[in-house]
Amino acid sequence: MNPKLASLHPYPFEKLADLKRGRLPPADKPHIAMSIGEPQHPTPHFIAEALLQHLHGLASYPTTKGGPELRRCIAQWLERRFDLGEGGVDPERQVLPVNGTREALFAFAQAVIDPAEQPLVLMPNPFYQIYEGAAILAGAEPFFLNTTAESGFLPDFDAVPETVWRRCRLVYVCSPGNPTGAVMGGDQQRRLLELAERYDFIVASDECYSELYADEADPPAGLLQTAAAMGNTEFRRCVVFHSLSKRSNAPGLRSGFVAGDADILGRFLLYRTYHGCAMPLTVQKASERAWADEIHVRENRALYRRKFDAVATVLGDVLDLTVPSAGFYLWLRTPIDDTAFAAGLFEAQNVTVLPGRFLSRPSGGVDPGTGHVRIALVAPLEECVVAAHRIKQFIQTL
Ligand SMILES: Cc1ncc(COP(=O)(O)O)c(C=O)c1O
Repeated sequence: MNPKLASLHPYPFEKLADLKRGRLPPADKPHIAMSIGEPQHPTPHFIAEALLQHLHGLASYPTTKGGPELRRCIAQWLERRFDLGEGGVDPERQVLPVNGTREALFAFAQAVIDPAEQPLVLMPNPFYQIYEGAAILAGAEPFFLNTTAESGFLPDFDAVPETVWRRCRLVYVCSPGNPTGAVMGGDQQRRLLELAERYDFIVASDECYSELYADEADPPAGLLQTAAAMGNTEFRRCVVFHSLSKRSNAPGLRSGFVAGDADILGRFLLYRTYHGCAMPLTVQKASERAWADEIHVRENRALYRRKFDAVATVLGDVLDLTVPSAGFYLWLRTPIDDTAFAAGLFEAQNVTVLPGRFLSRPSGGVDPGTGHVRIALVAPLEECVVAAHRIKQFIQTL
């Protein structure tokens, strides 16, 4: 077996299952799960209809590169959503469909990392655990960039030692962030791209929450947008990852894309051809429809906004709480240890939240996940409000 498998950490939900094992919640309170980031708003009908209309696509092998219609549709979406300058995005060379961003974020490191260089892969901490596993299995060492309240829950690139930049070959960033909802501004992205030029590394920007934002007038910036504004219209060293899972409430469709630097994507396509992860034609057709529509995405944002408002109104009485500008998570500072909080809340109120330390690693003498829990506002509004009242009751007993 690959010896690197032994270095992989258990997934956060395995740790959560261990924490809950043997604990009995009250039988009279139905369980409310706020631990998993799985969207639960209904998938738009027109996406399901498009799947049905194109079931005949099951009769053909799809190509790894994806059909020209889907790539064109994605390029147009990118151009509408982000200000990409005159050249825009070339659907032939700068876009590839992926079967959800999870597999692509993982596969990307396997394609771009040369383990012989003793490379570092930088990533935020706390983080989406796939980045770490991807780095380890690619033969790189993960290097964690702590994101704390003091740094606005964003990585501080200026605090990274030069020796680290010299070994860095790939940086994962996540904006809007999971779990904190923090959004990287254009200035910070610009700084990262300058560092990428100086030290010769690639930036993988996970933007799968980019369409869930609080202010309709202020959508999060994307890395390609910042690159274009700097005159880097070929998106050198940049690859962005986008998904329909959160934007369109279609996590089961397994549909997303990567876009950016044509040279990097050309080699990633070669890798993917062998990896064998072409998107089924049926899914491609449904995805075209989803990327072309914004009405359902606006409605989706409105639903999350209502939930954030309602939950913050309840919890604001007992906690100093910040509603993030994007995403669907509350990153709550806990009055007691985060694992004790999650375990106690489950036992007292039958609500499951995720302890912050299950999403982070100790680094530089601190563990930035401790003392926090991640609360996913994915359940329907009424259920989120019931959960908020139960969390409040629990906090009042501490
Ligand atoms: C930060 C982040 N990136 C990527 C993903 C993967 O999403 P998908 O594979 O559904 O596109 C998730 C899913 O929860 C996530 O939270």
